[in-house]
Amino acid sequence: MRDTDLREAASLIDRAERIVIFTGAGVSAESGIPTFRDALSGLWEQFDPRRLATPEAFGDDPALVWGWYEWRRAAVERVEPNAGHRALAAIEQRAAECVVVTQNVDDLHERAGSHEPIHLHGSLFAPRCSACGRPAAATEAGVPNTEVPKAEVPKAEVSEGRVTPPQCDRCGAPIRPGVVWFGEALPADAFEAAVAAAANCDVLITVGTSGVVFPAAEIPQVTARMGGTVIQVNPGPTPLDAVARVNLRGTAAEVLPVLVSM
Ligand code: OAD
Repeated sequence: MRDTDLREAASLIDRAERIVIFTGAGVSAESGIPTFRDALSGLWEQFDPRRLATPEAFGDDPALVWGWYEWRRAAVERVEPNAGHRALAAIEQRAAECVVVTQNVDDLHERAGSHEPIHLHGSLFAPRCSACGRPAAATEAGVPNTEVPKAEVPKAEVSEGRVTPPQCDRCGAPIRPGVVWFGEALPADAFEAAVAAAANCDVLITVGTSGVVFPAAEIPQVTARMGGTVIQVNPGPTPLDAVARVNLRGTAAEVLPVLVSM
C-alpha cells in the first residue's frame, strides 16, 4: 500500500462533511468471525447456503437452520470488536455527519461505539416469529452444546448443531433468525436510508466486502454515480476497485488505525 494513497484517503476523509462507512464480513475477520467467500476460511466454502440461509431451508428443517444461527450468534458473543471497528467509530465521531451501513449481522460496530449502524442484512440479535413477525428476545437457551461446524466437518454433518427454535408466544409458530436470507428482500427502510445516505455523501469508505451481493453492493456504486468519492479498504481486488478513487490494499485492523492517526 502506497503512502501517497493513505495520505490522499486521510485528506479526503478529513475534508468530507458527509461520510458513509459501508462494511462487509472482512471488517470482523480480525475479531475471529469468518467471512463468507474467502478461500478455505469462508463460511460458504464450508456450508451450503441453500441448506442454511434460505426460507425454504428453514421450512424444511427449522432446527438445522436455527442451530446454525445460534452457533454463529454464540461465536459473535465470544469475540470483541477489533482495531478496524474502533477506527471506524473514531472516523464517525469526528465527522460532521456519518452513517454506518453494514451487511454484517454481528454487533461489533455497536460495541466499538458506532451509533445505530444500518444493518442491511438484519441481525443475529433480532429474532422474530416466522409467521406473524413479532420480535422475540434473543434466547440464551438453544445455544447448541455441540462444537458444531468445523472446517473439516463435511456438509452432511452440519446436522450435529440442530436446535429446535423457540415458539412465538403470540401465535405459536417457530421463531426465525432476524437475518436476510437468499431470495428475501432487504428491509425496505434500511435499504432506502442507506441509498439516500450514499447518494448524498462526499466520501464513502467501503471496508471488507467482496461487493458481489446485490442489492447491497449497489451502495458504493450509488455514491460514485452521484459524484461522491469512494475509498476502499480490502486486502484483495474486488469489483469495487473500478469505482474506488483510492484502493488501500490491506486489512481493516492494519489500515484503518493508520488512516485515523494521520
Ligand atoms: P465476503 O466473504 O463476500 O467478502 C469478504 C471480503 O472481505 C473479501 O473481499 C475479502 O478480501 C475481505 N477481507 C478479508 N479479510 C479482511 C480483513 N481482515 N480486512 C478487510 N477486508 C478483509 O463478505 P461480504 O462482502 O460481507 O449475506 O458478503 C456479502 C453478503 O454475502 C453477506 O452479508 C452475506 C453473504 O452471503 C447474507 O447472508 C444475506
